[in-house]
Amino acid sequence: MKLTVSTKPIPSDLAAFFICQDEQLFTMSIKKLKTNFPAAAVDVFANNEFSGKEGESVLLYTNDKKFPRVLLVGMGENEKFTIEKLRRATAAAAKKGRALKIESITMHAPDVNKGSAKEIAVAMSEAILLSLYKFDKYISDDKNGKKIKNVSFVPATPSDLKEFQQGVIIGEILAEGTIHTRDLANAPGNEIYPETLAKDAQALGHRLGFSVNVFDKKKIQSLGMGGIIGVSKGSENDPRFIIMEYGKQFKKQGTVVLVGKGVTFDTGGISIKPAASMAEMKMDMSGAAAVIGTFHSIAKLKLKRHVIGLIPSVENMPSGTAFKPGDIIRHYNGKTSEVDNTDAEGRLILADALSYASQYKPDVVIDLATLTGAVVVALGQHATGMMGNDQGVMDALRDSGEKTYERVWQLPLFDEYEKQIKSDVADVKNVGGRWAGAITAGWFLKKFIGDYKWVHLDIAGTAILESDKEYTSKGGSGVGVRLLTEFLIQWKNS
Ligand code: BES
Ligand code: ZN
Ligand code: ZN
Repeated sequence: MKLTVSTKPIPSDLAAFFICQDEQLFTMSIKKLKTNFPAAAVDVFANNEFSGKEGESVLLYTNDKKFPRVLLVGMGENEKFTIEKLRRATAAAAKKGRALKIESITMHAPDVNKGSAKEIAVAMSEAILLSLYKFDKYISDDKNGKKIKNVSFVPATPSDLKEFQQGVIIGEILAEGTIHTRDLANAPGNEIYPETLAKDAQALGHRLGFSVNVFDKKKIQSLGMGGIIGVSKGSENDPRFIIMEYGKQFKKQGTVVLVGKGVTFDTGGISIKPAASMAEMKMDMSGAAAVIGTFHSIAKLKLKRHVIGLIPSVENMPSGTAFKPGDIIRHYNGKTSEVDNTDAEGRLILADALSYASQYKPDVVIDLATLTGAVVVALGQHATGMMGNDQGVMDALRDSGEKTYERVWQLPLFDEYEKQIKSDVADVKNVGGRWAGAITAGWFLKKFIGDYKWVHLDIAGTAILESDKEYTSKGGSGVGVRLLTEFLIQWKNS
């Protein structure tokens, strides 16, 4: 799909207007509308059929061949305007266009008092691309249906043009990274397994010019990464450890390491999961996918920052060769863990990656993992669970979360919880009992971090969606890419 910006409305199948409820702004928008579309607009307003309320929309047909359809989308009160409301309204307009089976849309940016032209452009363009995403690679028919090919934007004022154009480019890049993550997460387990996940990262690095190094089973074994070896033992598909590096020349300004859980399928292993909804465990590599998608976006943005990506990748299967409850594993840093439940596998492979991260002398390490069902119980699908050892980094991530609306919510890592993962036979046990499962998982990871600022993001609820949202469809959400990219843009080493 092509996104363009023009101060003069480009003729299309549908012209969309985003209109606030407030009297003055409403009158302004309507004036604009009436000058552009004298034939269409008058009656709806005369009859009070549209007042700009949030969620309201009206489709009008005109006899103007250049703009045969006009869509009015209500934005609510200007005072209560948020960028997220604009994302949702834009997504609604894009989906309306898809339902109408048209090929082009002209979107008129709203007249609002909040948000720069750039922010508005980022939000509108990412919302269009993300809301029209469908994982339809494996569906044989449905391919010939009309798709929206062109969307052109008209900035609120002509002087916004440059800024708006810059914003559209950024929005496109953020959507591209997010869609890459969604595609990886939604891909079935017979297509994405450790070897092919690594190939995907390598292909991306090759295309965008960053380095990717992949360790195979032999190398992982020789390094003493017992967690990765242990979890992968039951599978025919060998593990991989993927290392990505971007922007080495910016090392002076600090190094950020991103770690992603790359379990390409989680059956639970010998502690096997119930059959119902096991299929969604093909998305247990969403953390890894988010790290790859973030590299996609930051490399395209040419961000001036040194970023390392670490992905331990395994398939967790039950078999005669699988690891078992009661096994004791020795991790990369020499610490041991007792396996009480083979379904708590994510933390075992992350332990190796987190201790491996130390060698980069990172300023910040952020891990993303679909780690626990418990975080879904606590926060549902609307917030990522966040834990860590540095309030400053967590505050920054919270701000990035508000801005991108990939929101995070902090959970405490109080010392009291540590007792729950005490083992009688090893340094730590991989499960912590019934209560506070997301926190005890976080505590397990904390045992393996080095001398760096660390934040753990449990994305089990936000990465795998049960149903469609405004600009996200059921399945892999691609969460993490916009959050981390925004964080990396804003973050200053202190
Ligand atoms: N991959 C799962 C966590 C998960 C659950 C992700 C639901 C997405 C949706 C993880 O490996 C797991 O199975 N965790 C166990 C841990 C337990 C055995 C301590 C869980 O949460 O039940
Ligand atoms: Zn599991
Ligand atoms: Zn898992």
